[in-house]
Amino acid sequence: MAPMFRTVTSVLLCVSYLFFGFCSADDPYVFYDWNVSYITASPLGVQQQVIAVNGQFPGPIVNATTNNNLVVNVLNNLDEPLLFTWNGIQQRRNSWQDGVLGTNCPIPPRWNWTYQFQLKDQIGSFFYFPSLNFQRAAGGFGGIVLHNRLVIPVPFDKPDGDITLLIGDWYNRDHTALRKALDNGEELGMPDGVLMNGKGPYPYNSTLVPAGIDYETINVQPGKTYRIRVHHVGISTSLNFRIQNHNLLLVETEGSYTMKQNYSSLDIHVGQSYSFLVTMDQNASSDYYIVASARFVNESLWTRVTGVAILHYSNSMGKATGPLPKPPDDYYYKSFSMNQARFIRRNLSTGAARPNPQGSFMYGRINVTDTYVLKNMPPVVIDGKRRTTFNGISYSAPETPLRLADQFELTGIYKIDFPTRTFVQPPRIGTSIINATYKGFLEIIFQNNDTTVQSFHMDGYAFFVVGMDYGNWTENERHQYNNWDAVSRSTAQVFPGAWTAVLVALDNVGVWNIRAANLDTWYLGTETYVKIINSEITDRTELPLPDNVLYCGALASKQKQQDHGTSAAPVAGRRLKVFALMLLFVAIAILF
Ligand SMILES: *[C@@H]1O[C@H](CO)[C@@H](O)[C@H](O)[C@H]1NC(C)=O
Ligand SMILES: *[C@@H]1O[C@H](CO)[C@@H](O)[C@H](O)[C@H]1NC(C)=O
Ligand SMILES: *[C@@H]1O[C@H](CO)[C@@H](O)[C@H](O)[C@H]1NC(C)=O
Ligand SMILES: *[C@@H]1O[C@H](CO)[C@@H](O)[C@H](O)[C@H]1NC(C)=O
Ligand SMILES: *[C@@H]1O[C@H](CO)[C@@H](O)[C@H](O)[C@H]1NC(C)=O
Ligand SMILES: *[C@@H]1O[C@H](CO)[C@@H](O)[C@H](O)[C@H]1NC(C)=O
Ligand SMILES: *[C@@H]1O[C@H](CO)[C@@H](O)[C@H](O)[C@H]1NC(C)=O
Ligand SMILES: *[C@@H]1O[C@H](CO)[C@@H](O)[C@H](O)[C@H]1NC(C)=O
Ligand SMILES: *[C@@H]1O[C@H](CO)[C@@H](O)[C@H](O)[C@H]1NC(C)=O
Ligand SMILES: *[C@@H]1O[C@H](CO)[C@@H](O)[C@H](O)[C@H]1NC(C)=O
Ligand SMILES: *[C@@H]1O[C@H](CO)[C@@H](O)[C@H](O)[C@H]1NC(C)=O
Ligand SMILES: *[C@@H]1O[C@H](CO)[C@@H](O)[C@H](O)[C@H]1NC(C)=O
Repeated sequence: MAPMFRTVTSVLLCVSYLFFGFCSADDPYVFYDWNVSYITASPLGVQQQVIAVNGQFPGPIVNATTNNNLVVNVLNNLDEPLLFTWNGIQQRRNSWQDGVLGTNCPIPPRWNWTYQFQLKDQIGSFFYFPSLNFQRAAGGFGGIVLHNRLVIPVPFDKPDGDITLLIGDWYNRDHTALRKALDNGEELGMPDGVLMNGKGPYPYNSTLVPAGIDYETINVQPGKTYRIRVHHVGISTSLNFRIQNHNLLLVETEGSYTMKQNYSSLDIHVGQSYSFLVTMDQNASSDYYIVASARFVNESLWTRVTGVAILHYSNSMGKATGPLPKPPDDYYYKSFSMNQARFIRRNLSTGAARPNPQGSFMYGRINVTDTYVLKNMPPVVIDGKRRTTFNGISYSAPETPLRLADQFELTGIYKIDFPTRTFVQPPRIGTSIINATYKGFLEIIFQNNDTTVQSFHMDGYAFFVVGMDYGNWTENERHQYNNWDAVSRSTAQVFPGAWTAVLVALDNVGVWNIRAANLDTWYLGTETYVKIINSEITDRTELPLPDNVLYCGALASKQKQQDHGTSAAPVAGRRLKVFALMLLFVAIAILF
């Protein structure tokens, strides 16, 4: 689009949103146009179909500042439905834009749909990804960098650069093949590798890495300090992240500033995000390895599941050589990783998105109003299908999004009877969600009865990760909670045979997804929703239905067809029509 036209549209867009009560006029807008399509790539040397945004894999970085209004116009050029979700972004009062099946109808192939929401009261490192049909295993993901407003102090000096690194386990099969395997009741087996920013490993060992693979290089200047934002966008394998000879100074995780601490390596679980400050304090006798290797597995069998990128000093005198830096050697010491996680603490004396310190919200003094123990188990066979469960219920997404069903007072779409602690026997498939109290204070215990590490994520919120331990949770465990400086984040790991307790203040009205972040576990049914309604009649606690809402399921008849041309020309035509329509709105607005 021509820049001039773009500016005019931006202003008009804002005016027309104002007309519908959407935006706060003084907060700037950030616009993205995303054309989502398949491209072919060979990240591990095998040609396959991946999902690209504007031809890029991974997708472009969303770069914005607290309180900005984000407008993302998504054109779905895949051959299947599409939704993007914004991992860790707390869409205040606006679950309409969350991009999961409980709140949104999928964008049909060849259609476009525009997300619009305010990045309220948050800073930090997050990512987006396509939420349907196992698509994340094929790409479509990208980083979100959410800067603080200039008036807000940051607990470290401004870094010399800002680098996003997306890491994740990867298969050479595309997402449709992986989906088919799961639908057939098969396990996915060992991944074929680990990608870093969509690229395969540097050839650190010619036996292990086939020739001709494109690898990621991070270019740096000696003596400078960079903020490296690492996101685990992968499928199901926990990864150990490290940079040869360099300290990782942890400063932030999913929107909480942490007490600064140096690590030689850190375990990063599926769906988690961390920011490190890394100072280029080594002599440049060579390049250095950046490594993400499979964790809690027999490394001699899993050697191929290792991502390797290159840290290249501008004055480097040679290539990185020799063995990779060693991972933690704790095969027989299962508490190492858990202890590492427990010692990640919030810096209470600094603000995050607001000037008041993170410690001013004394979560430890608030009384819990509801407790849910959410237990997951290894897959079971239900009605002849291999499925996973939460409290014995394997979630089945209805054709009509839950939030839309409520809006139009449709009943019978879901049940609001999710069990607080009991485990439903025998396990069943159903659409059962949690009834929560607006302004309540919810305690959730994730109890992992599976044999692998799982991480769990909640949309619309950050929760305080107050405790984790091996064994079965009982109320006595509350004595060991961290009621003082736990980090607040949106994705927490739960070790096998262990529990993780989180606390969350229910101040964001809407219907919000709680799910396994591990893609296979999620796909097979480990998820539910929390419905948080304000029983007072007011329009302040939740934004109205967006005017571009898509309809489907029982509401499909309300959906107007979209004129979806196959060439670029009709799109331009459509833009002009919308432009004219907006002019009309402006005229009406002026008249009033
Ligand atoms: C979107 O990308 C597809 C595939 O690259 C291309 O064919 C199509 O023309 C693009 N559409 C627009 C509107 O840019
Ligand atoms: C991201 O946004 C910040 C603040 O608006 C700006 O300073 C920076 O240059 C942007 N970075 C990129 C890569 O666009
Ligand atoms: C589709 O894209 C056009 C221009 O790119 C935009 O004007 C229009 O609002 C979009 N339609 C929807 C439903 O988002
Ligand atoms: C905590 O935040 C304060 C205030 O910004 C900062 O001065 C201090 O260095 C931080 N402490 C640690 C350990 O990160
Ligand atoms: C490369 O990897 C193979 C298989 O793990 C190993 O036997 C060999 O020693 C490695 N070579 C080097 C140079 O490290
Ligand atoms: C972290 O390590 C760096 C050297 O890489 C050192 O300068 C710094 O003081 C350490 N910071 C902390 C908080 O330990
Ligand atoms: C640079 O550092 C490496 C690793 O610490 C060391 O082996 C090497 O001798 C150093 N080279 C110079 C020129 O200082
Ligand atoms: C890892 O696997 C190898 C090969 O099967 C086996 O010899 C070794 O004992 C295993 N290591 C551990 C710690 O189980
Ligand atoms: C929390 O509960 C305790 C005991 O039930 C009660 O004494 C206290 O007043 C409550 N605190 C608040 C802030 O409601
Ligand atoms: C859900 O909870 C609210 C109070 O928080 C209560 O008024 C309502 O009856 C509950 N609904 C169901 C179906 O349990
Ligand atoms: C946890 O509870 C289950 C029954 O729900 C029991 O089979 C198991 O042995 C318990 N585990 C521990 C470590 O107590
Ligand atoms: C899972 O639960 C079963 C019985 O309920 C118990 O025997 C087993 O030890 C548990 N496994 C884990 C990893 O928690």
